Amino acid sequence: MKYLFGNWKMNMSLAEIKAFTRQSKVKLPSNIYVGVAVPSVYVGACEKLHKNMLLGVQNVSEYQKGAYTGEISANMLRDLDLDFCIVGHSERRGYFNETNTQVSEKIKRLQEYDILPILCVGETLKQYEKQETKQVLSSQLAGNLDNVDKFKQIIIAYEPVWAIGTGKVASEEIVAEICDYIKQEMHKIMGQNYPAIVLYGGSVSPENSLSLAKLPSVDGFLVGGASQNAEKFMSIAKNMIQGGEK
Ligand code: 13P
Repeated sequence: MKYLFGNWKMNMSLAEIKAFTRQSKVKLPSNIYVGVAVPSVYVGACEKLHKNMLLGVQNVSEYQKGAYTGEISANMLRDLDLDFCIVGHSERRGYFNETNTQVSEKIKRLQEYDILPILCVGETLKQYEKQETKQVLSSQLAGNLDNVDKFKQIIIAYEPVWAIGTGKVASEEIVAEICDYIKQEMHKIMGQNYPAIVLYGGSVSPENSLSLAKLPSVDGFLVGGASQNAEKFMSIAKNMIQGGEK
């Protein structure tokens, strides 16, 4: 099975969503899951999109309910019939100081309501240059997966911070090695039989996605910029399928 998720971040307007919905009505084979993480306020506007794609959001509160102004709970996401939710994106860790413990609590809330968490991990440019990638990932995974339900699926997205929105996609060697490393770590934490599903994210485009999709340790992509354009996003989906058939 292959996976393609888009992360619209704080982008898109109602008009753009309508156009995206129209243009993304492409028949896809049954061996690929395609989904988009939309801004929460647009979930209703994405109802039609929901019919042919998985629908998710980009963040959830670590709390169950209560006086947390501006927050959205996992229970609310369940009420809206959402399929998945991104957690621990580097933009949330970086700009909003989200800690490993908070990320772990968010995963637990999502699991309580059977919403699939897509956990983002990745090193900064400084850490990459200091060759600390594996160390950083191990500590993020250990912290984020602490005491989570090991019988429920969590998808990991490896997103090197230096590759996000920069046009500097990580090399095939790095992506292959690190996605494989994450799978090993997942097995250590979640158990040898856990289905470790690992996506790559960071400047994925129609141009570079075919060769990345051929890497055996890559189960799919988490796409930012190119997911806002239905044509580009669907072309990445086609490459994902074609690459997976190698
Ligand atoms: P880009 O594809 O724009 O580099 O963003 C990746 C990302 O952050 C997806 O979550």
